[in-house]
Amino acid sequence: MGLLHLLTVMALSMCCHFQFTYAWTVNNFLMTGPKAFLTYASSVQVGAQSGIQECKYQFAWNRWNCPESTLQLSTQKGLRSATRETSFVHAISAAGVMYTLTKNCSMGDFDNCGCDDSRIGQTGGRGWIWGGCSDNAAFGEKISKQFVDALEDGHDSRAAVNLHNNEAGRLAVKATMRKACKCHGVSGSCSIQTCWMQLADFREVGNYLKAKHEHAKKLEMDKKPARAGNSADNKGAIAHAFRSIARTELIYLEDSPDYCVKNQSIGFQGTEGRECLKGDKNMSQWERKSCRRLCYECGLRVVEKRIEVVSSCNCKFHWCCTVKCDKCTQVVTKYYCAGKESGRKPHNKTKRRHRARRH
Ligand SMILES: *[C@@H]1O[C@H](CO)[C@@H](O)[C@H](O)[C@H]1NC(C)=O
Ligand SMILES: *[C@@H]1O[C@H](CO)[C@@H](O)[C@H](O)[C@H]1NC(C)=O
Ligand SMILES: *[C@@H]1O[C@H](CO)[C@@H](O)[C@H](O)[C@H]1NC(C)=O
Ligand SMILES: *[C@@H]1O[C@H](CO)[C@@H](O)[C@H](O)[C@H]1NC(C)=O
Repeated sequence: MGLLHLLTVMALSMCCHFQFTYAWTVNNFLMTGPKAFLTYASSVQVGAQSGIQECKYQFAWNRWNCPESTLQLSTQKGLRSATRETSFVHAISAAGVMYTLTKNCSMGDFDNCGCDDSRIGQTGGRGWIWGGCSDNAAFGEKISKQFVDALEDGHDSRAAVNLHNNEAGRLAVKATMRKACKCHGVSGSCSIQTCWMQLADFREVGNYLKAKHEHAKKLEMDKKPARAGNSADNKGAIAHAFRSIARTELIYLEDSPDYCVKNQSIGFQGTEGRECLKGDKNMSQWERKSCRRLCYECGLRVVEKRIEVVSSCNCKFHWCCTVKCDKCTQVVTKYYCAGKESGRKPHNKTKRRHRARRH
């Protein structure tokens, strides 16, 4: 059972008693009681979901794109694998859970937790002292670890990799924290400042982990067949493989499959039919290269579709008090990856797929 299982359980627990009971049995040995579980459960779910949202944003223009929801995610059989992409999913979800719990804590949502006041009043540096409300990352880290990590119940290299990536996600939340300060002193002289540590926007955590994804390292395990059941041997081999890897780096075990093509066994749709972007000068590097990456380099072509968008326009205020608008239609051009052949007839899927596979 892994993180993704947790996410399903969390999602389902919102609706049905049965699943809730199950979620509880999964967690009860960790928490101090059902009350503790209930206190944090909704935050954990919100956090996991925000991780997936961020994943979708970060991978919008990659061949692999994040699943639509945690539910869809957990049904993807491919998540049993440990690729560069699943490493990102684990990290961003763990980060999302920690982030939300930490934010909730600062907002005073939990009775037993508040701002990190351990350094309040101490001098931080020249001209400033610790004050204000530092986000309590240690709290978020601890609780998210209890929820997320404990569900990784295997002892194999895959479980070790998932746990490592969960931690890398939580470290990303810490690494992107920033010092914020407020001036004091006679009429804004700012002779003394009070400062506190606060969480960055979650977008920054996403950007940080996206960069880690690009430089993710493959864990080289000894390929000698492990003697069945000898978990001491196993542990030694895993520890050895991890020795040279920093805790902040994402790691994976298996090379990614070809994300150009549909792959039923991992529930991946391929890039045919995906939208890409063209024309706008003010695009990020990822957006600018999206048609190349998603379509051309996958042996697909780009088709243009003109889509009518109806919106309100020429709105006028009438006394009193209504607003009347016209409906304006605007034609926008969108671009999509499509199979090679030029025909406008119904596509011959068999043929198309054979062509794509050659690339
Ligand atoms: C935690 O914060 C999230 C979003 O900021 C909010 O939706 C959720 O209700 C909060 N949880 C609790 C227990 O207050
Ligand atoms: C589908 O994915 C699996 C798992 O990564 C891989 O072994 C297989 O080769 C892929 N199939 C295709 C057609 O790419
Ligand atoms: C281009 O994008 C940047 C950042 O995304 C934004 O700050 C800037 O205003 C944009 N410029 C134009 C001309 O849209
Ligand atoms: C689709 O293409 C394949 C291979 O070229 C061909 O064998 C098949 O008859 C075609 N099917 C249709 C419905 O045109």
